[in-house]
Amino acid sequence: MHIVVNGAPLQVPAGTSVAAALAQQTPGTTRTSVTGEARAPLCGMGVCHECRVRIHGRTRLACQTVCTEGMSIHTDVGTAPGSATS
Ligand code: FES
Repeated sequence: MHIVVNGAPLQVPAGTSVAAALAQQTPGTTRTSVTGEARAPLCGMGVCHECRVRIHGRTRLACQTVCTEGMSIHTDVGTAPGSATS
């Protein structure tokens, strides 16, 4: 299936998590911390929230989200108020 990551097309097998899809790309990070450090999925089970990304305009956990056809994913989700997982 085809997804789009930060405007770039990417093909992934059905059933791939967003975190796994992002791991196929360089640099494979999901967001930037308040101190400017690049962050990436850590726990893989929905606890750490290091994998926050924007999917179709909503903040989601990449490790808990399965890719769907045409999904548009944006990384580098900030930590500003309102960017928490909804
Ligand atoms: S990797 Fe920890 S919540 Fe997704």
